[in-house]
Amino acid sequence: MDTAKLLLNGEEYEFPVVVGTEDEVAVDCTKLRGTTGAISLDPGYGNTGSCASTITFIDGEKGILRYRGYPIEQVAEQASFEEVCYLLIYGHLPTQAELDEFRALVTHHSLIHESLRHFFEGFPPNAHPMMVLSAMVASLSAFYTGTAEEEDVNLNIIRLLAKAKTIAALSYKKSVGQPFIYPRNDLSYTQDFLHMMFAVPTEPYEISPVLDRALNLLLVLHADHEQNCSTSTVRMVGSSQANLFSAISAGISALWGPLHGGANQKVIEMLRMIQADGGDFGKYVNMAKDKDDPFRLMGFGHRVYKNFDPRATILKEAADAVLEELGTDDPQLEIAKNLEQVALEDPFFVDRKLYPNVDFYSGIIYRAMGIPTNMFTVMFALGRLPGWISQWKELTEDPHMRISRPRQVYTGAKERPFVPIEQRKEEAREKPEFVTV
Ligand code: CMC
Repeated sequence: MDTAKLLLNGEEYEFPVVVGTEDEVAVDCTKLRGTTGAISLDPGYGNTGSCASTITFIDGEKGILRYRGYPIEQVAEQASFEEVCYLLIYGHLPTQAELDEFRALVTHHSLIHESLRHFFEGFPPNAHPMMVLSAMVASLSAFYTGTAEEEDVNLNIIRLLAKAKTIAALSYKKSVGQPFIYPRNDLSYTQDFLHMMFAVPTEPYEISPVLDRALNLLLVLHADHEQNCSTSTVRMVGSSQANLFSAISAGISALWGPLHGGANQKVIEMLRMIQADGGDFGKYVNMAKDKDDPFRLMGFGHRVYKNFDPRATILKEAADAVLEELGTDDPQLEIAKNLEQVALEDPFFVDRKLYPNVDFYSGIIYRAMGIPTNMFTVMFALGRLPGWISQWKELTEDPHMRISRPRQVYTGAKERPFVPIEQRKEEAREKPEFVTV
């Protein structure tokens, strides 16, 4: 199978077929418009491959996720987050010497410029930490301009990985009005983050190995997920040759939405609502099924996974273990399990292949770790950072890279003469509502 045929207006056209390492088949449409005059229409890009990539493989039907060929289950069990960053960004598992050097670099670049630290003072106390993270990451480009030279790019990648965790922890400190805690070079990536988040100057803070392990697992499981909404955003922005920090900042904004990374916060809000409403999860399953009700079961469904999300399977087990180790009895975990049980047996969810996704259980673990709800999506962003960086790097190193510029099918008004304001008539139509404060 090396070509595909298209019959359009009685004419036959042939297009090359591309087959990936795992036998994924794609029709190469790059010459479609040039040869036929037509474009492909695919809102939401459910059938569109935007690139060829060597980073992450997902088989949504079989519930498979692999980073650079390594199964997520094995990576989650054995790898540190720093190893995963290295694997995704540089393409291979690091040797001990490579990892030591990488760790030292990421550790030693974790301070943020004092002028950048002052930026935090300008945000209102209730600013969402995702907004702060996105603004701060974009602001890094004011401090570290660099060039497109390889050494500059590599250094900026290290800076971004190192400083993002400091910015994330500071955005939390800002939101609770506590003094900022500076990074420490004697701690690992995850330990340092926990220390900056939870330590206060008035008393010693002991880093719990349970929290350290749980955080490592969560970051590793979120590290990459091929061409999702935020990663595609990073690639889209990167394709205009905007700098690394701007591209990643745009990715953070894309992740924030409740249908994407913001779902982890929404899951907990949903569980809280069900608990406050007497724990009647069946009622909420029915609401999710009702087409006239906008309510959806947050943490359920996925564009790609039509079997199970392997990350959710790992996190479900981890949630039990972490809560037990921390001695936390969380009634919301019980509600989550019951909700999952009811939904998994309901034909509405079965027919649509709607299973719990990664966000369904991650929030329960973050909560048990003492991470506040509005920081959940920031945690997702920290984990996803190496994925975004590796996808941006792959894009910018591609000699055939072109600016992303989709087309459209225009369905608006045909050409018509402009009407001067004095000749316009009142028409019955919906008016925008402006609330005056
Ligand atoms: N609750 C109830 N019904 C749902 C849900 C849900 N969570 N998700 C999908 N459906 C229904 C939807 O109404 C539609 O039904 P019908 O065919 O009768 O119209 C059908 O399932 C297909 O849904 P869709 O919206 O066309 O699917 P999609 O691929 O465009 O959207 C999704 C995927 C993840 C946005 C969606 O499942 C959803 O909104 N889930 C809740 C939010 C969520 O948990 N997001 C996190 C995704 S995983 C983390 C990440 O990578 O971002």
